[in-house]
Amino acid sequence: MYRVALVQFAPRLKDIDHNLERMQELGDRCNADLIVYPELCTTGYVFVSSDELYRVSESAADSLCISEMAEFCADKDCSVVFGFAERSADQVFNSSVLINPDGSIHIYRKIHLFSREKLLFSPGDQPFAVHAAKHGVRVGMMICFDWQYPEAMRTLALKGAQVICHPANLVLPWCQRAMTIRSLENRVFSITANRVGKEINGKFGETFTGKSQILNTRGEILQQMGETEEGFIIAEIDPILADDKTVTEYNNAFSDRRPQFYELG
Ligand code: ACM
Repeated sequence: MYRVALVQFAPRLKDIDHNLERMQELGDRCNADLIVYPELCTTGYVFVSSDELYRVSESAADSLCISEMAEFCADKDCSVVFGFAERSADQVFNSSVLINPDGSIHIYRKIHLFSREKLLFSPGDQPFAVHAAKHGVRVGMMICFDWQYPEAMRTLALKGAQVICHPANLVLPWCQRAMTIRSLENRVFSITANRVGKEINGKFGETFTGKSQILNTRGEILQQMGETEEGFIIAEIDPILADDKTVTEYNNAFSDRRPQFYELG
């Protein structure tokens, strides 16, 4: 069995040292093979300007967050996925990173930006991809509002993902329910790691909705957190179950698809 966990907490805006400490303190107690953290959990979320965001962004090549968490992964023999503000030349992406115990990293840049993120971040410029986490488990990353687009998780599942890692900073009430269907229709595990707390910066503010959850390949909730609590949850899963797309003796969720009749633009 494979032990997956998520961490739900309230990052402090622009306080990377504090957030990293919290990620390691909570992650340390998970004792898991794979740990998923929220979107932008190293920096917080509510930025008033691109300049303010740029100042706390980090390029992947010399990111303190990535190097510290890589050390954590090597130490604890685990893979992690977390959200960070990724600087690339003069652009900033809302990204997540998968870090493995051997130090290998893979980055996903959020494709579907939400609300004022459109004023602050560049939209992802690379395709959805599947990568090996600890023990070769096939992981796909999507971030928060990507849930609204079924094509995102379908693409990852068609590319062979067994576990969808989904860092989030949710403010709308629908994602947790929608993800039960995403997991069911794609027959994959999903881990939505949301944050909690209220963040106010100047005239802007958001309240985040918690209820982070781990779902099985039938869309059933294996573990879920409360709306406001900080902490972590763990589930033991068998990732191989995600390779079986059987629905009935006569139906297969993937091989029965009729893409010639779909108009997805
Ligand atoms: C979101 O995409 N952070 C709602």
